[in-house]
Amino acid sequence: MSWDIVEVQLPFPIVMGDSPISHHKGSGQEKSTQETATNEQKSQMEQAYREMQRKMRIAKLNDDIKHKILVLSGKGGVGKSTVAAGLALSLARKGLKVGLMDIDITGPNIPKMMGLEDMDLNVEDGQIFPAKGPHGVKVISMAFLIEDPDKPVIWRGPIKLGAIQQFIGDVAWGKLDALIVDFPPGTSDEPLTVSQHLPGIDGVVIVTTPQEVALLDSRKSINFAKTISVPVLGVVENMSGYRIRGKSEPNSKVSLMGPEGISIDCISDGEGNWSTTLDIFKKGGGLSAAEELSVPYLGSLPFDPGIVRGGDDGVHRIIAEPEGETAQAFNVIVDNITNSLNEDATPSLKIT
Ligand SMILES: Nc1ncnc2c1ncn2[C@@H]1O[C@H](COP(=O)(O)OP(=O)(O)OP(=O)(O)O)[C@@H](O)[C@H]1O
Ligand SMILES: [Mg+2]
Repeated sequence: MSWDIVEVQLPFPIVMGDSPISHHKGSGQEKSTQETATNEQKSQMEQAYREMQRKMRIAKLNDDIKHKILVLSGKGGVGKSTVAAGLALSLARKGLKVGLMDIDITGPNIPKMMGLEDMDLNVEDGQIFPAKGPHGVKVISMAFLIEDPDKPVIWRGPIKLGAIQQFIGDVAWGKLDALIVDFPPGTSDEPLTVSQHLPGIDGVVIVTTPQEVALLDSRKSINFAKTISVPVLGVVENMSGYRIRGKSEPNSKVSLMGPEGISIDCISDGEGNWSTTLDIFKKGGGLSAAEELSVPYLGSLPFDPGIVRGGDDGVHRIIAEPEGETAQAFNVIVDNITNSLNEDATPSLKIT
């Protein structure tokens, strides 16, 4: 795979003082200085007008979108996108109007997870209309705007930040109860830009894994949230224990060899069914990180191979098995988030 710089077709030119995009005057067509100046002035006025419109729309987002939640993690691959999509779907299942913004512009995978691959977005009257996923979740992702998804895109800094501003200011979200924002790994430019441009952020949800080192990663994210003056709604532990089930003699002891050679015993019920949880990636990193860092613990999601399949098939676990263990775990997490938002005297997310 070659690493080319790819022309990304954004709906509008990015307007930034230090933008690396220059306006070409056209070769071979000589125009009078007077005419060129007039055209440049015209284009500057158009850009200024668009900027003003964007600023007005961004200001309106505060009223139009009741809650804005950022999903972050200190390191990659811990399940941010899975969690962001799951939170959006779980809230939408409860009847809320939800948007999902995929800020991971170098490796956007939310569309795939939401079954929205190969979608074309509508652009009308200077606004980008999000795609609609399951339960009406409105989705916007850079993946929709990249022509060849197999070609890695190298974004030069200002273009990336300009694109994020467009995502925030030029998308026709309509009225939403909640907007969930998914980020690339780490605490870098993207969340900083979003925090500077998206008004009224309720807080960040930090995703982590059960290992002890989770504490270090979570601490980074929590410190970052402090830097951008955004509350931490809590920590989610992903890829917690893997549940296995079996059948044996009724009321008998079953011995298993768990991870690291540790033996696990469980007793089957009157019908011979037994189940136990294997802590594949150790245990409790999320909870101890939350306790040590004095932030709420929102809950854990099981290690579920169906999540990996769902990511490939475009059917999120919550859609494939709405009453399954993973969907229920998401319900608990979403209830904890909505409870903490309700405590903050914002009754709009109250689910009755
Ligand atoms: N609870 C889980 N059980 C099993 N597999 C999971 C679970 N959560 C996520 N995965 C798998 O782990 C991989 C990484 O998940 P995901 O893409 O959500 O992580 P991410 O933090 O968004 O990654 P990146 O940092 O690259 O954006 C995916 O293949 C996903 O299917
Ligand atoms: Mg991701």
